[in-house]
Amino acid sequence: MINENKPILFIDSGIGGLPYCNDFLKHNPGEEVCYLADRANFPYGQREKEELSSILISLTEKLLKTINPKIIVLACNTASVSALDTLRKKFPNVPFVGTVPAIKPAASASTSGKIGVLGTARTINDPYSQNLAEDCETKCEIFGVAAPELVKFIEQQFDKSTEKEKKEIVKKYIDIFRAEGADTLVLGCTHFLYLLEEFKTEAAPSIKVFDSLEGVTKRIEYLLDENNGALRAEIDFQPLHWLLLTGAETSDTSWQERAKALDFALCMLDSL
Ligand code: DGL
Repeated sequence: MINENKPILFIDSGIGGLPYCNDFLKHNPGEEVCYLADRANFPYGQREKEELSSILISLTEKLLKTINPKIIVLACNTASVSALDTLRKKFPNVPFVGTVPAIKPAASASTSGKIGVLGTARTINDPYSQNLAEDCETKCEIFGVAAPELVKFIEQQFDKSTEKEKKEIVKKYIDIFRAEGADTLVLGCTHFLYLLEEFKTEAAPSIKVFDSLEGVTKRIEYLLDENNGALRAEIDFQPLHWLLLTGAETSDTSWQERAKALDFALCMLDSL
C-alpha cells in the first residue's frame, strides 16, 4: 500500500529552496515536508557536474533510508540542471521534481528576443538553458550571467543586510542586462527569490522578471493528485515539518532561529 503520509523532501545547498518549500506548504498545509539544506557542500554552483551528481546520489541514498520521502524536489536550479536526469535513472521509482530556469514563459513575453538569465556558474555554463531556449516556439537569444557573489550574499548576509545594500547589489546586475538589451530576466537560482521584489522594482518598466516558483508547486501538486490523489496525505493527518542540515553541529544560531520562525523541527542529517 502506498504510504501517502510520507514527507515531501526539498533539497538545496542552503536557504535557496525555502521560498519554494513555503509556497508549496501555503497551498498544501496538510502535507508533511522535510527541507534539507546541504550547507556542508555549499556552494553547489562552483562544483563540476559529475561531482554534484555524486553528492546528490549519496544524499538521496541516505535520505531514502532515513526519511523515505514520497517525492523529492530539487529546489535548486544548479542541482536540477546538473543531476536531475542522472537521479531519475538511478532511482527510477522515486518521483523527482526539478527547478529549471523559466525560459519558456520569458521567451513568450519577450519582444526583443533577448532573454537574460541570472544563475550560478554551473547553471549558466550548462547547455541545459540553451537547449530550453532552442525548444521555445519564438526565436530567442540567451544572455547568461553567473553571480556567485549574489548567492553568497543571500546565504550569508541577507538577514543582516540593509535595504540599500540589497538595492545596490540588484542594480549592478540589472544594469548589465539592460545594457545588453534584454527585456526579460529569468532568476535561474532559487536563492535569488529572496530579492524578487528588489529585482522587479529595479527592472521595471523595461525588463520583466520571471521565476519558477509557481511551476514547481504546480508540478508537485500534479504528482500528488495523479491516480485519484494516491500520494496525497490523509485528510486527518497532522503533519510535522523538518529542517535538516548536513555537516557538523554548529554554534551558528541563524538556523535555529529560521527553524523556530517556520515552526520546523531542526535536525542534523548525520544524527538520523
Ligand atoms: N540555490 C542554488 C540554485 O538554485 C544554488 C546555490 C549554490 O551555488 O549553492 O542554483
